Parts: sequence; C-alpha cells; structure tokens
Amino acid sequence: MSDPAPPSFSPLSPFSPLSPPSPPVSILVLASGNGSNLQALIDEEKRGGLGGGAIAGVASDRSGAYALERSRQAGIPACFFPRGPGLSERVLRFARERSADIIILAGFLSILENPLIDAYAGWMINLHPSLLPKFGGKGMHGGAVHRAVLAAGETVSGCTVHAVTSAVDSGAVLLQRSVPVLPEDTPESLGLRVRGEEHRIIAEAAELLVRQRRLYAGR
Ligand code: GRF
Repeated sequence: MSDPAPPSFSPLSPFSPLSPPSPPVSILVLASGNGSNLQALIDEEKRGGLGGGAIAGVASDRSGAYALERSRQAGIPACFFPRGPGLSERVLRFARERSADIIILAGFLSILENPLIDAYAGWMINLHPSLLPKFGGKGMHGGAVHRAVLAAGETVSGCTVHAVTSAVDSGAVLLQRSVPVLPEDTPESLGLRVRGEEHRIIAEAAELLVRQRRLYAGR
C-alpha cells in the first residue's frame, strides 16, 4: 500500500503557515454631530470592508451628538469629552485604552493639539467638505463651507481626506472627490451632494490607511 498523499497547503489558505492570523487594525473615530460618516464606516466594516480594520471606539466633544447614539446602537464603546483645555490629552488616553492604531476625524469640530497630534502623526486623518486647499481653515465647516463655495461662484466642489497636522486643514491630501456645483444650488443641496461623496471617500481612505498600517506593523 502506498503512503497517503502529504497535506497540500495553498499559500492563500487560512490554514497555511504563510498566513498566521493577525489582529485587526484598531480604529478610533471622532465625531461631533450627526455621524452619517461614522455610519458609513460602521456599515463598511459590517460589509467586511475597511481592509479588515475594526472600529474600536468613538469619541465626541458634544454630549448630544447623534454619533454617540449610532455607536451605542452598533455596540461600539463611545465617550463624550467636553471641549476646551485637556481635550487632546483625554482623547489620547481613550485612544490608548482602545489600542487605537489609527484615528479618523469624521466631522469633529474641536481643533486637536499635542501630545495627540505627534503621537498619531501619519495615522490620523480628517474629512473636510471642500476641495482643499480651497475653503479650509478655522471656522470653515458645515454650511459655512458650502456658502463660501457658492459665494465664490465655483462650478466644482467636493471633499477631501487629509492627514491631521497642527495646522488646521493643511496636512497632506490622501483622497479627493469632486461634485458639480449647479446654478440652482443652495448650501443645503450642495452639502447633500458633497455628503454622498464623503460617505464613499471616508470608507476608501480608512481602508487605505488600515492597509498601510498593517504593512508598517508587519501584520
Ligand atoms: C461632514 O461634512 C464633514 O466633512 C465635516 O462635518 C460633516 C460631518 O457630517 N467635517 P456627519 O456628522 O458625518 O453627518
């Protein structure tokens, strides 16, 4: 009788010694408001997207932010940290508690500072509702951005995901997507069109960063 055939391993098999299980890249999301972009990330993770990253926590600087409710509904640990001095330290502590590898600012209105910025340099991204460098900077958020775009007579607007640095809305651009500005647009209708693209771009950017992080960590 001949010997049984040796077990065959495909390099892509989950049982192959070439692909040991790796822990998911852990994501902290910061949001101040409705959290529709947070929801886009939650939904993408449920679909098996985000490059295998997992949302491990959500923090908000507004106690009534609907983003906190969305987190609870999704079973994600969520925390409220009041605005003002010490906010960045508290967020950093929470990020460490949640073992966050990357941080995504999805509609977070407070301006973050050190030590948080340095601790997550290169691993923290922000979503902005215009084509940066246009219409960025302090005070440029939500309706103010879309009003400024219309007042300037722009025919194209869009959204940007960029690295967070200590200069507001000025870090390296990771992704941008444009939308047309229509003659009949109001700040609300333009905002809605931009929001649709934001939901796509934030998930794509998260996946890029997760993959980058896995490479960096050798996972
Ligand atoms: C988005 O337009 C984002 O670009 C801006 O704040 C808004 C947040 O929307 N920074 P939501 O809370 O995710 O619905």
